[in-house]
Amino acid sequence: MKQLLSEQELRDGVGRLAREITRDYGVRPITIVGILTGSLVLLADLIRQLDMPIRVGLVQASSYRGPNTTPGELSINFDMLSDVEGREVLLVDDIFDTGHTLEQVTSQLSEKQPASIRSVVLLRKANRREVSLSPDYVGFDIPNVFVVGYGLDYNDQYRNLPHVATLDPADLGAVEQDSS
Ligand code: IMP
Ligand code: MG
Repeated sequence: MKQLLSEQELRDGVGRLAREITRDYGVRPITIVGILTGSLVLLADLIRQLDMPIRVGLVQASSYRGPNTTPGELSINFDMLSDVEGREVLLVDDIFDTGHTLEQVTSQLSEKQPASIRSVVLLRKANRREVSLSPDYVGFDIPNVFVVGYGLDYNDQYRNLPHVATLDPADLGAVEQDSS
């Protein structure tokens, strides 16, 4: 494993995201919706940097992935989300890879008629986007490598690393992965 983003860089990045979000929303109330499980650490750090009135909701998006990175079927669970009708929603996810997760969550959430939907991600991988949607706020653009830590997992491991590290391809076995 090799460190890609240090704790200090992550702190600075989250601070930057919070300033951009504050610049756009001002004191307007927002509903922050974290996409489980990868967004947990960013969610916790980000909301403590925001001063406007905030509600927090969660959705769970689970895709089933094989050894390659082709997105599998995605199921989205909205049971942990209270009413968002007429509210300004800010979706939070750990990483924008192909973009299918964020696009599907955005499209299903829009059926609940929020006033607006924007999205913030900690990381965005280069040259991987397969959808028309782009995240509104991006912490860091990174190369197309597999990363763990600060919420991101490999086979549900390493989410608790305080920094972001790349995982050696040799360590990436042909194991089925739940990439939620
Ligand atoms: P997308 O739908 O292709 O944008 O994939 C987004 C989801 O895939 C993220 O929420 C992560 O859970 C997972 N994912 C994509 N790339 C990585 C990575 O490098 N490390 C860990 N999880 C990843
Ligand atoms: Mg994951």
